[in-house]
Amino acid sequence: MLKSQFTKQTRLSFRSLSSTSQLLKWNEIPLAPPDKILGITEAFINDTNTKKINLGVGAYRDNAGKPIIFPAVKKAEEILLTKETEKEYTPIVGSKKFQSIVKNFIFNNSNKDANGKQLIDDGRIVTGQTISGTGSLRVIADFLNRFYSNKTILVPKPTWANHVAVFNDAGLKPEYYTYYDTSINDLDFANLKKSLLDAPNESIVLLHACCHNPTGMDLTSEQWDEILQIVQDKQFFPLIDMAYQGFASGDPYEDIGAIRKLTKLANEGKIPTFALCQSFAKNMGLYGERTGSISIVVEDAEKAKSLESQLKKLVRPIYSSPPIHGSKIIETIFDQEELLSAWLSDLSTVVGRLNTVRAQLHQKLDKSSRNWDHIARQRGMFAYSGLTAEQMQRLRSEYSIYGTDDGRFSISGINDGNIDYLANAINEITKK
Ligand code: LMR
Repeated sequence: MLKSQFTKQTRLSFRSLSSTSQLLKWNEIPLAPPDKILGITEAFINDTNTKKINLGVGAYRDNAGKPIIFPAVKKAEEILLTKETEKEYTPIVGSKKFQSIVKNFIFNNSNKDANGKQLIDDGRIVTGQTISGTGSLRVIADFLNRFYSNKTILVPKPTWANHVAVFNDAGLKPEYYTYYDTSINDLDFANLKKSLLDAPNESIVLLHACCHNPTGMDLTSEQWDEILQIVQDKQFFPLIDMAYQGFASGDPYEDIGAIRKLTKLANEGKIPTFALCQSFAKNMGLYGERTGSISIVVEDAEKAKSLESQLKKLVRPIYSSPPIHGSKIIETIFDQEELLSAWLSDLSTVVGRLNTVRAQLHQKLDKSSRNWDHIARQRGMFAYSGLTAEQMQRLRSEYSIYGTDDGRFSISGINDGNIDYLANAINEITKK
């Protein structure tokens, strides 16, 4: 290359470099705040106090404070290790086998829900594998943003910290409806109904199927009936989030009462269409395998076809197709009656420990100055304490106890070795 050519080229590339850096404004990228839930784990890891307790993220730990692999999952992995012969891509919305397992698991309730079975037989349910619950929420939110003309999505106050971020990023407009009253540590059902009635007709409404995150306080069967009547009257589009199926009762088939009501209403044409985001992160302990699903119930099989084609069109440019290891574990477990019952029993053991820990914590909290009964009444992975953000921060700085600022404790982090330290810290912080 001639010297003159070289300098000309260098000048050119410097010019383009400096204009790119001007466009990118690297120095102006603001520091984002830590994630409200996962940021707690990061802070916990950096804490050197040997007594530290992580009650932030909703992920199961055993009585020794260790994460577990469900024995049935381990068994399925052993089977896969010997039998698996390829690691090919799964189709864009997962394998037919996975879809059918999920449909039957959620909607047909092992042949016990005639309405769900009817919807499946009529080809009215489109199910796709997604990147766990968050991926499922994002896919349906993107889909609704494209095809549903009302962008308002009503979410309970409070709700899982990531819901609002997912919906906002997808272009929907989240608005809160009343759900819980921290001054009484209970559902505020009268205002819940009122705020839904006051909301714009045809909004999308997010409902937690069970083990409401973060409060652990669910609607009763009668309250569900009332809410689903409002859904009909206001012509809302129901979006159900079911991340903790099985954690309310210990039995995943017990926890889908709300879904059974919806399948009935769908067959009666009263709520002809709804969507359900589901995940195996918690109930099979497949957290990092990122395995979940989106199911959308539509009016007829014809609509189901175009809907599925649009889901594929949406997913392909984002992540092409979902990961396969988790879905293969699920397929293996559901393939064998014995493994399936082993998994159900593993799940019931996990939920049993959470219930024990919940009762023990309730028992150890000082009731002389405040009522802690809500802790005992709540269900699932969390205790929604009613502590203020300031009290949660004091627990962190003075005791190295890490819950989220909204007063939520992930109770699976509690065990025989730390429960007294925790109860004592809460009692000290709340002392009058
Ligand atoms: C939680 O609420 O802690 C879990 O759902 C985990 C997460 O991703 O936030």
